[in-house]
Amino acid sequence: MDVVRQLLLVLHIVGIGALLGGFFTQMKGMKTGDVRIVPAMTHGALTMLVTGVALVGVRQSALDLPVDNAKIATKLVILVAVLLLVWTERMKERVSVKVFGAVGLLTVANIAIAVMWT
Ligand code: HEM
Repeated sequence: MDVVRQLLLVLHIVGIGALLGGFFTQMKGMKTGDVRIVPAMTHGALTMLVTGVALVGVRQSALDLPVDNAKIATKLVILVAVLLLVWTERMKERVSVKVFGAVGLLTVANIAIAVMWT
């Protein structure tokens, strides 16, 4: 079952890659306001949610491994905020630079929490 956890973690990292990579492809337009939410960002954020929830389930139920509930809850709240932003703005030709910047900042904050919260 540990291989399932490892594969989910691989997909979890692929999800961050898609979300942050999508953000980076648009970053140049922040100077002119020509930014939009690209599909990689919505798909990446959804992937983070699905794999994150599955990782919690596999760790707790199948592997009897500990889960840091406070850390997970913090990451979840931040990711839900990111999801709400990318989902509601995804059809627009242009989105506000503030909203777009918030998506990037919140995503980087979640990476910092994942790595530094021990
Ligand atoms: C954008 C949001 C997120 C980012 C950037 C992120 C990032 C990461 C990273 C870098 C790791 C590997 C380092 C570590 O073990 O701490 C990780 C692991 C993990 N994440 Fe996330 N995460 C996010 C959201 C979530 C959410 C919403 C959940 C659960 C609802 C979650 C659950 C987990 C779990 C359980 C692990 C441990 C996996 C293991 O080693 O077995 N993550 N996450």
